[in-house]
Amino acid sequence: MGHVIVVAEDDARTRDGLGRALTRAGYRTRPAADGVEALTILGNESVDILLTDLKMPGADGLAVLERVRADFPEVIVIILTAFGTVDVAVEAMKKGAYDFLTKPINLDKLELLLQHALEARRLVHENRELKLRLHETSGLKQLLGRSAPMQRLREAIQQVAVTDAAVLIRGETGTGKELVAQAIHYGSHRADRPFVKVSCAALPEGLLESELFGHERGAFTGARDRRKGRFELAHRGTLFLDEVGDMSAASQAKLLRVLQEQEFERVGGTETLRVDVRLIAATNRDLEGLVGEGAFREDLYYRLNVVPVPVPSLRERAEDIPILVAHFLQAFAERWGKPVPEVTSDALALLCRYAWPGNVRELQHLVESMLIFSKGGPIVAGDLPAAVRGEDRGADPGDRAPGASLRDLERQAIARTLVATGGNKRKASEILGIGLKTLYRKIQEFGLQ
Ligand SMILES: Nc1ncnc2c1ncn2[C@@H]1O[C@H](COP(=O)(O)OP(=O)(O)OP(=O)(O)O)[C@@H](O)[C@H]1O
Ligand SMILES: [Mg+2]
Repeated sequence: MGHVIVVAEDDARTRDGLGRALTRAGYRTRPAADGVEALTILGNESVDILLTDLKMPGADGLAVLERVRADFPEVIVIILTAFGTVDVAVEAMKKGAYDFLTKPINLDKLELLLQHALEARRLVHENRELKLRLHETSGLKQLLGRSAPMQRLREAIQQVAVTDAAVLIRGETGTGKELVAQAIHYGSHRADRPFVKVSCAALPEGLLESELFGHERGAFTGARDRRKGRFELAHRGTLFLDEVGDMSAASQAKLLRVLQEQEFERVGGTETLRVDVRLIAATNRDLEGLVGEGAFREDLYYRLNVVPVPVPSLRERAEDIPILVAHFLQAFAERWGKPVPEVTSDALALLCRYAWPGNVRELQHLVESMLIFSKGGPIVAGDLPAAVRGEDRGADPGDRAPGASLRDLERQAIARTLVATGGNKRKASEILGIGLKTLYRKIQEFGLQ
């Protein structure tokens, strides 16, 4: 059956002419003599497209457009405009009209435009479908591993997902805390609502507030437009506070206030906003230790840590390593257009014995660089970095995981990757998952070459 088009036009001749032409083209048309009538039709039946004149008695085209955007967001609006009112038509497009046509209407042009508009909408729908499917794959299925610690983790995720309680995810770097947070969100009744991440460590002091709560136009230098904060964006969804242990004292106080009062104002604003968000926080820091030192507020700690979810290190679940290696080999082979190489059993044994201070992320990066440099043959023990082969112990902080500083690990990871990429900084930055600029800066900082 044809798509339904409302033709809103006060000039009866134009209206009837368009109606007849569109009916011939296979559309079901509904005439409306003014904006009010058009809105009534939209309220009564499911309409695909609204063709509307700009100047009509009663509610004119722009007013109708605003109402349609608010109440019937699925409807495509195309503006019909008289010669000389193109400015208004452009304004209409800013307000969400799909396009405009100048009168007298060229019917071929109109039909083409309708086809494009419907096609564009179909793509939007398809995209939404894909997103829904993404929900399914962003859940538990992403978390690979059959070891007992992983099974316990999966159970914990399923149990907390159905509650609305605040969750604190703990675990070393690279263990999959973010995946766990997503699995909780997509397993909850909030799955269709946004999952919004805030990286607390990445935010400079002054920006955290505006990032979390948004700001009004002109609230501070550079605040050119009003902007919604993460709390607002996460409304009815989940707010993921990543690296919450790295927050400054002032930011902690601000966050605590919202959590206690459940309401906030945008920076520079007076309106009090209430949002419904579920909180998930994550950290790889020793929060209890920080609380003891006075570096993390105890009251905030208790608010965030309603349900603790510990994520095991890769060391504690070495039996999952072969599955992860196979998975990452497959994924990166696809990405880089290479065949999936074999891994010899002694290479695999070394991978299973290694301590993995960087956990799954380190494994992932290692597999990727091995794949990039594989020449088609199997991956053998000799292809593995010295640290994994168990050589140069002592010189390699990665082997003494608990004692190594993050800085040492970082320096080492960069150095290793640069060696592995033969000094190719672009490849190295991709493997390390950092920007090229950051890499250059770190190379300087660490005096690497
Ligand atoms: N169990 C798992 N199965 C498959 N992939 C995993 C698993 N755990 C982690 N990963 C992958 O490892 C990488 C690191 O995971 P993630 O970013 O969730 O770690 P994290 O704990 O948040 O680390 P950090 O503390 O450094 O932020 C991601 O690419 C993630 O997809
Ligand atoms: Mg993380």
